[in-house]
Amino acid sequence: MAGSGTAHLRNPEDALLRVENLVVEFPVGRTGLKVNAVSNLSIDVMPGETLGLVGESGCGKSTMGKAIMRLVNAQSGSVRFEGTDLMALKGDDLRALRPKLQMIFQDPISSLNPRRRVRDIVREGLDIWKVGDKASRQAKVAEVLETVGIDPSVAGPKRPHEFSGGQCQRISIARAVATDPKLIICDEPVSALDVSVQAQILNLLEDMKSRYGLTMVFIAHDLAVVKNVSDRVAVMYLGKMCEFGNPDELFAHPAHPYTAALLSAIPEPDPEAHVKTRDGVGGEIPSPVAPPSGCRFRTRCPNADEQCANEEPQMREVRPAHFVACHHPIGDVTFLSAPGTESAAAPVPPAPAAWTPPVEETAPVPPAAPEPVAPVAMAAPIIETAITPPPAPPVVESLPEPPAPPAPVVAAAPVPPAPPVIPVPAPAPGAAESPWIASSPVSPDAPEVAPPTPEPSGPPPVVDWTPEAPAPAPVPEAPAPAPAAVAPEPPAAEAPAPPASEIPDVTSLDTLLPDRSKGGSIDPRR
Ligand SMILES: Nc1ncnc2c1ncn2[C@@H]1O[C@H](COP(=O)(O)OP(=O)(O)OP(=O)(O)O)[C@@H](O)[C@H]1O
Ligand code: SF4
Ligand SMILES: [Mg+2]
Repeated sequence: MAGSGTAHLRNPEDALLRVENLVVEFPVGRTGLKVNAVSNLSIDVMPGETLGLVGESGCGKSTMGKAIMRLVNAQSGSVRFEGTDLMALKGDDLRALRPKLQMIFQDPISSLNPRRRVRDIVREGLDIWKVGDKASRQAKVAEVLETVGIDPSVAGPKRPHEFSGGQCQRISIARAVATDPKLIICDEPVSALDVSVQAQILNLLEDMKSRYGLTMVFIAHDLAVVKNVSDRVAVMYLGKMCEFGNPDELFAHPAHPYTAALLSAIPEPDPEAHVKTRDGVGGEIPSPVAPPSGCRFRTRCPNADEQCANEEPQMREVRPAHFVACHHPIGDVTFLSAPGTESAAAPVPPAPAAWTPPVEETAPVPPAAPEPVAPVAMAAPIIETAITPPPAPPVVESLPEPPAPPAPVVAAAPVPPAPPVIPVPAPAPGAAESPWIASSPVSPDAPEVAPPTPEPSGPPPVVDWTPEAPAPAPVPEAPAPAPAAVAPEPPAAEAPAPPASEIPDVTSLDTLLPDRSKGGSIDPRR
């Protein structure tokens, strides 16, 4: 990756959004240096399409989204929305387009003004644009809040701090759709949420998309999520584009070593699964202040050679509608176009907005990729991989068969640690006669409870906290044991169980992803 080019872009006439050669740089104090956050990045999105944008932290995903929204200034490039170049707009012309583009920000809580009430937050865009009269704006606020599952009469007067992260994200979504936008940039809308709420928000976004006819740019770390919500996927590394294609193709046949490394880092939900590790890539992400020459991924790529250091790879088609910026793509692919040429498949219409089947299969691994590729530093990688310095770059002349990989080191599948076993103390001698349990084995830190004063006429009272233990034996003729000292607290009145839809028993989002091809939705109770 880490290349440039526009070969993957489709017909500009058809695109709702077309970003070409976008460059965003931030100055580093007064040093004269700059952070190369986004460098010559090009993407396009067709109407009704969801473009998934993935890449590791700091690769420039949010910056690209903000630059599209004109929240940060780009140094060069063009952003065309419905054919209008947003970069050339100023003042009222730019403001007039703003309601059509909305963004859901990465942090659901801090993206809402803590001093304003929810109803005012959601209504703000309508007020600014003076959409309809006051009554119709209030009705719109109530409608969108209800649509995202928030009761407007209860939530409207409250402020954001009175809501959970998932509820705040719903309010953000309501605010984003209130102005009837055409494009929403979702910047990691679920990364701050637990897995069950993620499923609810993803379903909600899908519902919003079909209800309001939205087009979305979906930024995420989680490849499993991206695969299931996207019609096209773009992979970024250090401000540049690596690979572009439809999710099934890209996940089954990654042609870029970085994409393959990302895919190999997808955790397996099955603790018994046997996960292979791969040798090879390691090292640190280079600084965006001084990115490597040529291919920006070359310092971590096992296939890097001199060409990679000297020549920046350009996006080229390797399979129909599948593009990669790499001099030596992996897998069974061949270049279908010369570097720098536009795609033969450019006019391909957007993929139908259909959910891919649920992720029942194991984490996709390139089936025939011979290159040893280890997961790079990704969020929560499960596969343990030794960080090794990049091997000496092999001299590769032209699309050679890569060298046979060393025997893969197969590590035991990661098994979550067993729950701690809390030993139950062996009964002391005489325990049969005096089975007093001084403290609950499951509450070792509980304040010590003084044992009861033994009754002179009989054995001490029997209080057994273990569930299988028999009930305390009655002590004939003896007064009742001091219950205040030893009797367990009666169970606290249980709070009414929340609806199952709110507290699903799930451990992995993969189990929740819907079968879009069947029109299904995520069932958070699974
Ligand atoms: N306002 C800013 N000033 C200076 N540097 C910035 C600014 N915003 C972002 N950067 C830098 O630009 C690079 C890209 O940041 P960005 O937030 O776009 O990454 P990201 O891909 O969204 O990461 P994450 O997945 O962690 O959200 C980073 O190196 C970051 O430090
Ligand atoms: S083979 Fe070369 S061009 Fe391809 S990703 Fe590796 S370093 Fe970059
Ligand atoms: Mg970000």
